[in-house]
Amino acid sequence: MGNADDEPLDQESLPSEPVVLFRRWYEEAERAGIRLPNAIALATASAGGRPSIRHVLLRGIEDDGFVFHTNHGSRKGTELAENPRAAFSVYWRELDRQISVIGDVATVSAEESDAYFATRPREARIGAWASRQSSELTSRDELMERVAEFDARYQGDDVPRPPFWGGYRIAPITVEFWQGRQHRLHDRFRFERSGDGWTIRRLSP
Ligand SMILES: Cc1cc2nc3c(=O)[nH]c(=O)nc-3n(C[C@H](O)[C@H](O)[C@H](O)COP(=O)(O)O)c2cc1C
Repeated sequence: MGNADDEPLDQESLPSEPVVLFRRWYEEAERAGIRLPNAIALATASAGGRPSIRHVLLRGIEDDGFVFHTNHGSRKGTELAENPRAAFSVYWRELDRQISVIGDVATVSAEESDAYFATRPREARIGAWASRQSSELTSRDELMERVAEFDARYQGDDVPRPPFWGGYRIAPITVEFWQGRQHRLHDRFRFERSGDGWTIRRLSP
């Protein structure tokens, strides 16, 4: 397991698929008791190239990409509609490890979004209906009135997924693994997609 002392990351120990190492490091972050190891800083950009960033929760580490869920009408949703590319980074301080990903983004299927939405607590599902994410509110009362409205509309546990809410999958083009080492002489490896496989390069820290 990694630690903050001087854990090496060797080329020989790298798997050929970055998702394999991503999962390994993620499991080690969980085992290390890191709170919200799936909180990632997600960057998107407008068609004109102006970036924006916020944290979201990574909900899937899959062979074909990294999945998160959000409101399609939000700022990030609007940017992804006009420029379907994203980057994200996560830092696990207790392991002194960072992973940074750049990729192409597509929406996940309606079935997949439905399946994830159904796992959310009822309050979070009502909240998804009530929040016009990223638009201005005149007051918190306005939000709470909308919560009450949807709470009354969807009685019981049957709260469907809003059509404006769902998942995105980031299909990676590059995945960089950064392992902190002593004296700032860190180990960095970048996986870059090439054809069906990946080219791996060690980068200077
Ligand atoms: C730790 C953390 C996790 C978050 N997870 C999500 C998430 O999974 N989906 C989401 O839409 N917003 C999430 N948010 C809120 C976003 O950071 C952001 O405020 C919201 O999505 C609107 O972003 P936008 O206006 O840039 O589109 C999270 C915030 C934090 C601090």
